[in-house]
Amino acid sequence: MSETIARVCAREYARPCEGIFFNSASWGLVPDSSARESADLTLSRNRTHGFEERELGAAQHRCRSALAELIGGSASEIALVPNTTFGMTLAAALVGSGPPGDVIVSAGEFPANVLPWKSLQQRGFRVVVVPCDSDALPDETALLAAVERQGVRALSVSMVQFASGYRADLARLGAGCKAHDVLFCVDAIQGLGAAPFRVHDVHADVVSAGGQKWLCAPFGSGFTWIRRELLGRFDPPVPSWLALEGSPRVLDTRQYEQEWRGNARKFEPATLGVQDYLGLARSVEILLEVGVESIRDHILHVHEPLIEWASARSDVRMWTPLESARRAGIISFFPPDVSTVAADLRRERVVFSVRDGAIRFAPHFYNTVEEMERVVGLLAAG
Ligand SMILES: Cc1ncc(COP(=O)(O)O)c(C=O)c1O
Repeated sequence: MSETIARVCAREYARPCEGIFFNSASWGLVPDSSARESADLTLSRNRTHGFEERELGAAQHRCRSALAELIGGSASEIALVPNTTFGMTLAAALVGSGPPGDVIVSAGEFPANVLPWKSLQQRGFRVVVVPCDSDALPDETALLAAVERQGVRALSVSMVQFASGYRADLARLGAGCKAHDVLFCVDAIQGLGAAPFRVHDVHADVVSAGGQKWLCAPFGSGFTWIRRELLGRFDPPVPSWLALEGSPRVLDTRQYEQEWRGNARKFEPATLGVQDYLGLARSVEILLEVGVESIRDHILHVHEPLIEWASARSDVRMWTPLESARRAGIISFFPPDVSTVAADLRRERVVFSVRDGAIRFAPHFYNTVEEMERVVGLLAAG
């Protein structure tokens, strides 16, 4: 564990958690200072005097700025939204504003990256689901071949698959989309915060992520990044009074016919749970303080004892690829009897998930190699 990770963990996760928490693919642990800042904002509203509306705007601005730094985009391209689905719905609205055609997704995707696209079917679009390969992982060669066909409007993929933990080669997929003038949309919730991600390196057009998992933020906080050139191409599906140019001053004039803002705030769904976005801002600042590359290296290190144990066992199959470039935080494997193994681990207070018959561990920067060694000890004893 690096000195920075040790220092930040001692400061932000001072109370030891009970058991071993390997479930950041479901929800991350919220740093103390994020929880505190979020609660303080709520409490400060109760001051009878001195709480200013401008504090709300400042909190949201801070959140967009931290996120922009994390993904290498601009704060003006970031809309704060409550979840991943909202952002994928924005992506579908963008695609739906153009002529009908095909949207490509991989089999096995989380519904948040499929249902918004299906909503376009009634307008003549087709959702083409590309089968996975023989290991039940996204078949990127087949996805790219699909992108090359006539009439394809968008490819939408998860940065990291929620069940297998497969980390997509986004740069390869994004370059293929760019070459064929196909929009490239990324559901980043299972990767962002666990592995480096830069919007321009992967030629992304729209990126959406909830904050509750690897970004270690409150539930209900999230964001969508939309490439600057696309912002003017479509109207917000949720018409918000705060999305108008000049809001909230527009209240004084009741000029309902005003233009939308020129930045991504035009897509924000009116009044937000600002305290949660303040928590998200603080959590992202902490991830930046640690450094996402260090977090990725640390997590890969934590995976090692499990990989070593599994490779010595002929009856255990790893689902997540062993190649480190194809992994982020999730590491999933098939033991011979998943229900018995899951029950044994839960009895020992290991917190994790089971997906598609695989045990899914999701360690983050606050986990240690020693914790994984203990868990492997339990697996070996079982
Ligand atoms: C890949 C993926 N996308 C999206 C979500 C969640 O979607 P939302 O933030 O819209 O609830 C999850 C998990 O909950 C997920 O694993």
